[in-house]
Amino acid sequence: MKYLLTGGAGYIGSHTAVEMINAGHEIVIVDNLSNSDEIVIDRIEEITGKRLVFYPFDVANKEQLTEVFAQNQIEGVIHFAGLKAVGESVQIPIEYYRNNLDTTLTLLEVMREYSVNKFVFSSSATVYGEENKPPYLETMKKGSCSNPYGWTKSMIEQILTDAANADPELSVVLLRYFNPIGAHESGLIGEDPQGIPNNLMPFVSQVAVGKLPELTVFGDDYDTPDGTCRRDYIHVVDLAVGHVKAIEYASKNKGTEIFNLGTGVPYSVLEIVNTFRDVNNIPVPFKIGDRREGDLQDSWADATKAREILGWEATLTLEDMCRDSWNWQSKNPTGYR
Ligand code: NAD
Ligand code: WQD
Repeated sequence: MKYLLTGGAGYIGSHTAVEMINAGHEIVIVDNLSNSDEIVIDRIEEITGKRLVFYPFDVANKEQLTEVFAQNQIEGVIHFAGLKAVGESVQIPIEYYRNNLDTTLTLLEVMREYSVNKFVFSSSATVYGEENKPPYLETMKKGSCSNPYGWTKSMIEQILTDAANADPELSVVLLRYFNPIGAHESGLIGEDPQGIPNNLMPFVSQVAVGKLPELTVFGDDYDTPDGTCRRDYIHVVDLAVGHVKAIEYASKNKGTEIFNLGTGVPYSVLEIVNTFRDVNNIPVPFKIGDRREGDLQDSWADATKAREILGWEATLTLEDMCRDSWNWQSKNPTGYR
């Protein structure tokens, strides 16, 4: 039996591939490499010592995706494939809706044709919107998203919920990620954003390695102890292990279940910068700039449900996240490319 990881050559997908293989599962990856590189497949095999099956094409291509299910006995799917840059989604919303929704709908159609009924989806805490206040609970009503990217996540959650309501055999697990950072301890795989990073940690590590001159902290006048925004940063390896638990949960249950994958502990921007500097003993030049439009002051998880039902909780510390981020970046100063 094999599990299909769409977008499995990406940041979170590649780390999940490693943990799935470590847990004894066989995996198949479909990834069009629009935000990754085929070298990641080699790195996964180097880390695990296991070969994997890889198809370099668009998940929305129904003919090619059908071939994957025909050639491999797929047991379940973890759906990472998608465009995920918030700012870019505002510039090209049609491409975001087309890519993120088409991949999902095509996947559901082919899964139904092959009676594959376990589906784990990469959702995001962004679906809580600004109406809800942290710590976020899975029982909260979803809020309004501030960008097309967030709306694609919210809409896909609805599509999957409706699909599971219509098919008693379909098991759907919606994983709401908070802020994944860090890298595998080997430094062979990590976060490799194209162009100037939007997210904090890759920006910090690129400043530290000298690829970027200085970090701008987006505002220090928030109503927090040090004036900077707080987020629930989670080590990408902890997040990956959560997916192993989630697909195993999906194998034993039906219907739709939502889980927050976070630590439940918020850290501020300045705490991230200072911890990174201290743990790695490397300067991170920064200046205080204006607030970034759309930023929430606070976002963190109530992580109880995943602990109680999945038997999963984050174990790696902020120091581990900063150390492993730097280990990846210093070994790959220009990323994979
Ligand atoms: P990523 O860009 O590194 O990985 C996504 C992968 O999907 C890439 O390798 C890309 O090439 C591939 N892809 C995109 N469209 C495709 C298509 N049509 N067909 C085949 N492959 C396609 O991003 P990531 O950070 O690993 O995120 C993985 C998933 O988790 C995404 O759906 C993202 O929205 C979600 N997520 C990420 C975060 C985060 O902070 N990184 C937070 C919440 C949710
Ligand atoms: C974190 C904090 C910034 C960069 C985003 C998406 C979300 C999810 C995770 C996909 C904020 C501050 C950042 C910088 C800074 N992605 N910051 N200077 O915005 O919490 O979430 O990534 O699903 O959907 O919205 O993460 O890393 O961009 O920002 O001061 O150069 O760091 O203001 O407070 P965010 P982030």
